[in-house]
Amino acid sequence: MAGLPFSQLDGAGHLRHFLTTEGLSRETLTDILDTADSFAAVGKRAIKKVPLLRGKTVVNLFFEPSTRTLTTFELAAKRLSADVMNINLKRSAAVKGESLLDTLHTLEAMHCDMFVIRHASSGAAHFIARNVAPHISVMNGGDGRHAHPSQALIDVYTIRQHKPDFSKLRVAIVGDIAHSRVARSQIRTLRALGVKEVRIVAPRTLLPPMPEALGAKVFLSLEEGLRDVDVVMMLRLQQERIQGPLLPSLHEYNACYGLTEKKLAVAKADAIVMHPGPLNRGVEIDSEVADGPRSVILQQVSHGIAIRMAVMSMILGRRDAAKEPG
Ligand code: CP
Repeated sequence: MAGLPFSQLDGAGHLRHFLTTEGLSRETLTDILDTADSFAAVGKRAIKKVPLLRGKTVVNLFFEPSTRTLTTFELAAKRLSADVMNINLKRSAAVKGESLLDTLHTLEAMHCDMFVIRHASSGAAHFIARNVAPHISVMNGGDGRHAHPSQALIDVYTIRQHKPDFSKLRVAIVGDIAHSRVARSQIRTLRALGVKEVRIVAPRTLLPPMPEALGAKVFLSLEEGLRDVDVVMMLRLQQERIQGPLLPSLHEYNACYGLTEKKLAVAKADAIVMHPGPLNRGVEIDSEVADGPRSVILQQVSHGIAIRMAVMSMILGRRDAAKEPG
């Protein structure tokens, strides 16, 4: 069916897969955030488990390294009472030459319900969603420089806790925009939720060819980009995706774009500082800011569990409800 448009929604407009925030309505995004609120409470109980996905099997297939995304997907599935398998691809039959599709079809034959995919290639999660059996849902845990939709939801959930009126917010996303799947998903999500102004701040070499097409205001100067913003989102230099010399040196990058308390002074006095991780301290952010009073970076990590519980339960829970007679 290659070439036909592919939708992550089912015929009733509900999530069947979760591949991108592109095309998701404000209602669907808000539904995920509200559902995450109820799951955040589960994480504070003595018994951090609900039976919603008992009998379901979630498979984490991470073809790229991860700390936050892999562990919070695993915890989210376990807290929903699903069974979880983390496939160690270095010890799987993939190293003996088995193709990606044969690996997927092998796992499908074990009657799994959901694959969570992280892959270095943009479009990998869509490709897999197109090719899996109808009983499997796919969640994108980050594909190349294309999308990281659950991270974007985590970030807006974190912002909403501190600054609930999005219509007044100015948000600056700073750093390696060109190679960042997080930035692409964040911009779409912030705009869909009605954020007043989204800015991207980077040297020209770390912007994509037509940066305005992302739907954000472009700033080359950190000082101008941070002026009067409510939220500062710092991004890592995606060294693994950078080809060729785009910067004079990491020292020079830190001097011009690394966030320090002094440079943060032009943002609003109550501005929060975010970073999806992993951090490169002393490159895009200094420790005084990362560990400082305005940092909400570890809150973002905690919120990963509730957001991923919300999306998993909305996909797998609804599929079951749709199958129930009457
Ligand atoms: N934010 C994020 O995706 O982090 P990991 O690479 O550790 O999963």
